[in-house]
Amino acid sequence: MAVEYQQVPSGRRRRNLLVWGVSVLLVATLIAVSASVAVALWSSGPVSSDLLVGDFESTIIGRCKAYLAKNKEDSSKNDCEEVWKAFSGAYLGKDPCEVSVEAYDPLMRAVSERPACDRMLFWSKTRDFVHDFTAKTKCQLTLEDTLLGYMMNDQTYWCSEKGSSVTFTEKGKCPGWDECERNPMKSFWKRASAAFAESACGDVAVMLNGSIDTPFAPDSIFASVEVKKFHSPKMKALKVVLVTKGKDDKANCKNKSLQNLKDALDPRLSYECLEVPQSKIIDCTSHPDKACGNCW
Ligand SMILES: *[C@@H]1O[C@H](CO)[C@@H](O)[C@H](O)[C@H]1NC(C)=O
Ligand SMILES: *[C@@H]1O[C@H](CO)[C@@H](O)[C@H](O)[C@H]1NC(C)=O
Repeated sequence: MAVEYQQVPSGRRRRNLLVWGVSVLLVATLIAVSASVAVALWSSGPVSSDLLVGDFESTIIGRCKAYLAKNKEDSSKNDCEEVWKAFSGAYLGKDPCEVSVEAYDPLMRAVSERPACDRMLFWSKTRDFVHDFTAKTKCQLTLEDTLLGYMMNDQTYWCSEKGSSVTFTEKGKCPGWDECERNPMKSFWKRASAAFAESACGDVAVMLNGSIDTPFAPDSIFASVEVKKFHSPKMKALKVVLVTKGKDDKANCKNKSLQNLKDALDPRLSYECLEVPQSKIIDCTSHPDKACGNCW
């Protein structure tokens, strides 16, 4: 080999040296770049979608514990480590487009919460508005104000892959909400929504959007999952709060889609639809007495 080396023409040797030099420079640049990317990812905090492996688990368990610390009456009946195990067991090791709604059944059994009769509030196409309202008034309660909803709210992506024991939370790795029907996120929200609606008791309200064409959209979780789980006599009435804005309004209580909602309901439930100006609801958030009693 040494002999062969000697035989390398000096021109090629110089070229080799040059290639080597450039490679060293490239590697050094790569190290510097990846180091700064790592620092950027790290400093962007634990709620970013670029979670490092293991962060998702601690985020979810942390949220579970934070919720139970604020809701002491539920804390003795729930163990956050067990809840995490049941939750992750639903999708770990599975193809991210093959996670069924039923895969979350063990999670539903692992969680225990008392239903908030007469205070349950459902929503469709009013997500941010409704959560701002419940966060400020603390009278009504949406799914996202319960343990499971609170744990998973704002977690956009989670999935695993066949044979893997790792959770991914990257957009590129996990399918989007509409990319395939049986993705881990959609199946979770369908299962959790079904359980929340099944527990509905007393007088129940739903906040729908009057600024869109079809306030009761057939493909929404509210229409396709929740309404079907409302049952008398546990539940007594459904009140539709159609949030209106004035000149931007498209639909009112007479809209055909709301007639469809009435028809889809258990006939023993009483039904009422109210058109309520958005400004009135916003006004209620600064008057908790009104918000809890007669905001609409
Ligand atoms: C109703 O829907 C529109 C269009 O998506 C949205 O901009 C608006 O914020 C929604 N209204 C409420 C009260 O959430
Ligand atoms: C009312 O409901 C129907 C059927 O659900 C829908 O197609 C229609 O566009 C809706 N909106 C208005 C503003 O009429």
